[in-house]
Amino acid sequence: MPSSPSNGPTSASVLTTPTNDFFVHPTAEVSTEARIGKGTRIWNRAQVREGAVLGEGCIVGKDAYIDIDVHIGSHVKIQNSALIYHGATLEDGVFVGPQACLTNDLYPRAINPDGSLKGASDWEVGETVIRYGASIGAGAIIVTGVEIGRFAMVGAGAVVTRDVPAHGLVLGVPARLVGYVCACGARLEMDVEGLGHCSRCGRTVEIGVKTK
Ligand SMILES: CC(C)(COP(=O)(O)OP(=O)(O)OC[C@H]1O[C@@H](n2cnc3c(N)ncnc32)[C@H](O)[C@@H]1OP(=O)(O)O)[C@@H](O)C(=O)NCCC(=O)NCCS
Ligand SMILES: [Zn+2]
Repeated sequence: MPSSPSNGPTSASVLTTPTNDFFVHPTAEVSTEARIGKGTRIWNRAQVREGAVLGEGCIVGKDAYIDIDVHIGSHVKIQNSALIYHGATLEDGVFVGPQACLTNDLYPRAINPDGSLKGASDWEVGETVIRYGASIGAGAIIVTGVEIGRFAMVGAGAVVTRDVPAHGLVLGVPARLVGYVCACGARLEMDVEGLGHCSRCGRTVEIGVKTK
């Protein structure tokens, strides 16, 4: 079904939410078939497509793109120019850095072998799940089909092709696990029992893998 863009919460075609106390910048384009939670702010020229669901208190930065049926929890921050394609699910508290891209087609082609243009049913949508509190660094690319665990962190510019464990820190192209991070974001010092200790906030985190 085609979307009918709206230009803000006072527009006649505004979204069908129980409350209208979210903010849509006049230059943003939010489908009337999207659902936006209370307190969420959608900034300049961002686009939110039909069927997308955003929870409460989210921030969608300038020029960000949220595709059809993407589900996003509450208190999620999506920075400028981030691209979140169909097939992605973001749990509460996720951070997506500027220009990060969550892809959805593992073997992309514009055309079929006979040269005809591919349609919506000619390809398989991949699924990507970003768990509670995880962060995706600036410019990172998440190749579809992966799960990024709770409070994991993807370094700037990484290309993620495999699942990332909870609290895992991954870097590079392709992204490799280089350590673990605390819920506060600092590196964890791992002990022989697989417990991570944070010198910044004092937390002890059970990682579940013996690392030494
Ligand atoms: C991954 C990250 C959390 C590491 O921070 P850190 O633990 O303080 O790491 P350091 O700066 O001490 O670097 C440790 C090593 O990793 C390397 N490194 C750091 N970030 C890297 C990255 N994103 N990709 C590849 N290597 C990286 C450093 O060059 C250094 O290597 P060296 O020891 O050979 O010199 C951080 O660099 C990062 O990428 N954060 C995301 C930033 C971002 O995108 N923010 C978005 C909002 S603007
Ligand atoms: Zn900490």
